[in-house]
Amino acid sequence: MRTQVVIIGSGPAGLLLGQLLAGIGVDTIILERSTRDHVLARVRAGVLEQGTVDLLEQAGVARRLRAEGLPHHGISLAFDNRLHRLDLSALTDGKHVTVYGQTEVTRDLMEAREAGGLATCFEVTNVAPAGFDGSSPFVSFDHGGASHRIDCDYIAGCDGFHGVSRQAAPAGALKTYERRYPFGWLGVLAEVPPADAELVYANHARGFALCSMRSPTRSRYYVQCPIDDRVEDWSDQRFWDELRRRLPETVTDAVTTGPSFEKSIAPLRSFVAEPMRFGKLFLAGDAAHIVPPTGAKGLNLAASDVRYLFEAFRDHYAEGSSAGLDAYSQRALSRVWKAVRFSWWMTTMLHRFPDTDDFGQRIQEAELDYLVHSRAASAALAENYVGLPV
Ligand code: APR
Ligand code: PHB
Repeated sequence: MRTQVVIIGSGPAGLLLGQLLAGIGVDTIILERSTRDHVLARVRAGVLEQGTVDLLEQAGVARRLRAEGLPHHGISLAFDNRLHRLDLSALTDGKHVTVYGQTEVTRDLMEAREAGGLATCFEVTNVAPAGFDGSSPFVSFDHGGASHRIDCDYIAGCDGFHGVSRQAAPAGALKTYERRYPFGWLGVLAEVPPADAELVYANHARGFALCSMRSPTRSRYYVQCPIDDRVEDWSDQRFWDELRRRLPETVTDAVTTGPSFEKSIAPLRSFVAEPMRFGKLFLAGDAAHIVPPTGAKGLNLAASDVRYLFEAFRDHYAEGSSAGLDAYSQRALSRVWKAVRFSWWMTTMLHRFPDTDDFGQRIQEAELDYLVHSRAASAALAENYVGLPV
């Protein structure tokens, strides 16, 4: 077999890259180790920067997003039993974010790929990118009881944090940076109306809490929990009680409880791998970086990586230029590190850390007080939250 670009991973990054390349006639094959249903069952964050929305429009997959996406022009920070709204649009000359679940983004992309008759091999094993340090890259893999090889021009490693692409980097060529956080997020989905029309990020002595949503009838809530907690330690009642303890009374009174239909605990980490290119192998999305979900940047960073990589491939195939390919890693990492910083800052400001002393606690309180009473500080948060220029 031969194609122009082999994409490893059928998550948002791989699917979006494949869709954009299909739009300019560049052939791809996506290799995915999970089943289609498993990919679509993943529950992830749901806040899209305008740049991400624009890219989904460019990929021709934004019909449902336009119909069901919820424009949000503000968020609230809650602490000391008070709610402080940040008017994102007023602080950023009219910009906003769109609330639309990543699961829906993935479904829209996957259905568009299938409608276009584009190739995705699910349930592949032993995927191995090779030859990318020379002029003849290829990917070998097993599927359907047989071994296969796809020769290609380029390999896009969109296989997430636990994928093989980053591991395929030549020995000594990769530098990684990591910060693990001493807590996790317990997340719940419930078919109940959201407590507030916008997202509420709460800092409380008992820990962080977040009120989000998927639709006017479906809520997404999170509470910070000990890193070694297990989902079975958390009944729905315990979750609702803990959530309500961490919110201001005005929000607590508006919380509608109900049975959860999804409940999971996720660890939080910041991670960056440099560079994001090794010859004809390019990393994009979670394969190259992970952010704590506090800043809602994971999907948006995957989208900006894909934008840069798509533009580089477009210039290569259309004009024979390698300038975009040569600049990809540095261009992507410049934006990655700003989002990693913002996500780290939001996480340190809003969570309770077990080793924080009295001085550290006062600093966190001063940070929040300054943030909500300074237009400059609020604007700095807002411009990062809606998305820095691509
Ligand atoms: N071979 C083939 N596919 C693989 C392999 C492999 N060896 N390893 C992982 N995969 C697949 C996974 O099953 C998954 O479907 O690669 C895909 C990677 O998708 P994501 O992990 O969603 O990463 P990405 O597409 O970069 O999207 C980033 O997803 O996890 C969230 O918070 C993250 O919002 C961010 C977004
Ligand atoms: C979500 O809706 O899942 C969500 C929203 C904002 C975040 C994280 C998660 O910062």
